[in-house]
Amino acid sequence: MQAIVLVGGEGTRLRPLTYGTPKPMVPIAGVPFLARTLERLCQAGILDVILPAGYMPEAIVDYFGDGSAIGMKITYVIEETPLGTAGALKNVEQYITGPFVVLNGDILTSLDLRKMIAEHERKGGIGLLHLIRVDDPSSFGSVVHDESGLISAFVEKAPRETAPTNEINAGTYLFEQEILDLIPAGRNVSIERETFPQIIASGKGLYAYTTSDYWIDLGKPEQYLNAHRDVLAGRMPLLTLEPGATGEGASALAKVAKLHLPVHADAGIQVDPTAEIGPNVVLGEGCRIESGAILRDSVLWDRVTIEEGAIVEGAILASGVRVGRDARIHEGSVVGHDAVVAANETLGPDSRVGASAPITR
Ligand code: GTP
Repeated sequence: MQAIVLVGGEGTRLRPLTYGTPKPMVPIAGVPFLARTLERLCQAGILDVILPAGYMPEAIVDYFGDGSAIGMKITYVIEETPLGTAGALKNVEQYITGPFVVLNGDILTSLDLRKMIAEHERKGGIGLLHLIRVDDPSSFGSVVHDESGLISAFVEKAPRETAPTNEINAGTYLFEQEILDLIPAGRNVSIERETFPQIIASGKGLYAYTTSDYWIDLGKPEQYLNAHRDVLAGRMPLLTLEPGATGEGASALAKVAKLHLPVHADAGIQVDPTAEIGPNVVLGEGCRIESGAILRDSVLWDRVTIEEGAIVEGAILASGVRVGRDARIHEGSVVGHDAVVAANETLGPDSRVGASAPITR
């Protein structure tokens, strides 16, 4: 079995983070998200992976290379213009040798791919789609199917009251090679809007696979923070949870009196014992937190400096950010790579400060 992980999107909703880092390389507790996805493929015995990329592909290629370091074979196919979620599959057709798994590159899930493969073998048809039940389907694509799992309709972003079902497309698919015959070459094609309806019309059998696995789409800053909260609480089993803080830098937090778990800290951090850290805080490699600073519900990437007395709550700070003395960053704010928040400045709620494009709502 081969896998195609779609990693070519611009990740506009995660800006300004994605001005400096493509979405698949955004870290989850210090490790690029795509590495977490590849780990899951390895666990399922899927070692032959194709990555259709296009937006900042060099960041991905530099990190994973040909995949041999992690026991995988990775083939990159770079799109000159975005081909969309189905166009990207057609564009890698020459590398496909049989049935294959497709993963959206921005989904964090505990889905067991081996079980999904077994289900496809049982059900047959041209493809199997992973579905998840959500309370409010209005920002997702609802999927209608009968008792056998046979899908009859897709309804994009229907209002909660009129949505036909609360089962949504969870962004993992399993396809027979023949699906590629249905996708036109050389243009942008959306799998959700064009290819799925076409498969339904063709009667080739597209089936649903609904599970109650952990699932979150990392497309927006709020969801990115929620994903960290879940990982730190053990709801998504990624970290080996220990009684104290997790991560290689955890020992540097030993003298911090006001440490509220869960907290994850990577190597090389320096934290003044008078700082207040947590709960739900991630400190990336080489972060420095000065005296009296307060950090809550926030994710700091590498080399972030928080100066004396600054307060950061519910925020995401990209690599190299510097927050000046007594500055205050409120809930929902996102600060892009290497940006500086001046001493005594107040940001947010929901501010966006980017290195290349400052956007403040
Ligand atoms: P937004 O701009 O915030 O909507 O993010 P996005 O560009 O990543 O789009 P979306 O979340 O809808 O994409 C779902 C998945 O498909 C992500 O993993 C994207 O990387 C990927 N994707 C979207 N468009 C393309 C494309 O044109 N080519 C490739 N190769 N992948 C794509």
